[in-house]
Amino acid sequence: MGTAVGSWRGATLAWVLVLLAGAEALENGLARTPTMGWLHWERFLCSTDCAREPLSCISEQLFMKMADLMVSDGWKDVGYEYVCIDDCWMSLTRDDQDRLQPDPERFPSGIRKLADYVHSKGLKLGIYADVGNKTCAGFPGSYGYYDLDAQTFANWGVDLLKFDGCNYGTQDQLAEGYRNMSLALNKTGRSIVYSCEWPLYMRPMQKPNYTEIKHYCNHWRNFADIYDAWNSVRNTLEWTALHQDSIVDVAGPGGWNDPDMLVIGNFGLSWDQQLTQMALWAIMAAPLLMSNDLRHISPQAKWLLQNKDVIAINQDPLGKQGYRISKDNNFELWERPLSGGAYAVAVLNRQEIGGPQIFSFSTSFLGNGLACNPACSIQQILPTSKDWGLHNWVSLLNVEVNPTGTVLLKVVVIGEFPDEKPVMNINKKPSPDIL
Ligand code: GLA
Repeated sequence: MGTAVGSWRGATLAWVLVLLAGAEALENGLARTPTMGWLHWERFLCSTDCAREPLSCISEQLFMKMADLMVSDGWKDVGYEYVCIDDCWMSLTRDDQDRLQPDPERFPSGIRKLADYVHSKGLKLGIYADVGNKTCAGFPGSYGYYDLDAQTFANWGVDLLKFDGCNYGTQDQLAEGYRNMSLALNKTGRSIVYSCEWPLYMRPMQKPNYTEIKHYCNHWRNFADIYDAWNSVRNTLEWTALHQDSIVDVAGPGGWNDPDMLVIGNFGLSWDQQLTQMALWAIMAAPLLMSNDLRHISPQAKWLLQNKDVIAINQDPLGKQGYRISKDNNFELWERPLSGGAYAVAVLNRQEIGGPQIFSFSTSFLGNGLACNPACSIQQILPTSKDWGLHNWVSLLNVEVNPTGTVLLKVVVIGEFPDEKPVMNINKKPSPDIL
């Protein structure tokens, strides 16, 4: 009897916990792992002159071409799914029924046809709108039209909305706008990922309430727009680490912090900096939205963006965001808890002078001492795939990292260390294979 009551209580408690947890996230069933796809902004900006720039203007041709390549060049196979339109797709005026409409010259077939095309490839279509009176580039905003615009997107077959926050009016209007668009999207009955910039626009005035934001959004931008430059990637990482106490815990299936697009495959990052962006975006459980030109991308950048081991870390089903454990001179040590008690570990060398440097640390630093306790196997994922073999809970790891580069590891805990008992020996010599 006592056991039956106990287990009934246990089951009730479990349901209460499930319901409470469920109440926290936007439960539209989407973005259980971070969204993966392609987004035009960083690489193609607001190019609207198709006579002058036929291959890079914001037109249906551009998105159809990217959809083709996402399938033919293996992007879809590794998980990139959403082909996303950013700002500058609209006509400067709404139609005679107040609906948003695409620029007729650049999108002559209309968005419904484009969505059909993207869907015929097994992909999904993303679109962009703004909570205020105008988009950031000056096209019509959704203020006053949230229900109509949500319904228009649903009718077109859109699968993701990036909702920007320019020209939002008052703080109340900003918050109300983000909430109302979320409700309007849900009301359409169509599954539409809701990508917000709410905390980015809110923060200068007041501290974002992330529990509330996660209740309404599938992901949300916190920090400035990414540029194709190392200082931009570096600043994004630094901001994230400095605010990790308030943003890491809220992330999880259904709702993610969004540090903005991947700029890998463009012009501004060195190879090591591209490795850093990919590794750290995996650690941060970030949406992987590439902004590059899939028609012209180096085999090396493609290898990195399609690396299945890094993608598996980014998409880990546990859905916990990683964090910085230490910042030691020029080295940063980050970790991310993964399913099965494993950890992803990134060692970033921030020094912008000199050559490769060695960072040494004990495995006892990882996972609060549990990642490698009593033993673990370590696999290097980036810059190259390499087996580092077995280690115990106080092994000393020596990791050599290029300037502004990152070494990404996966640490898998194992119950028993086969050859030796775990002993407290901080000065244990590292095995030569990791030097
Ligand atoms: C803002 C957003 C960017 C992009 C532009 C478009 O700056 O943060 O990601 O959408 O607007 O105008």
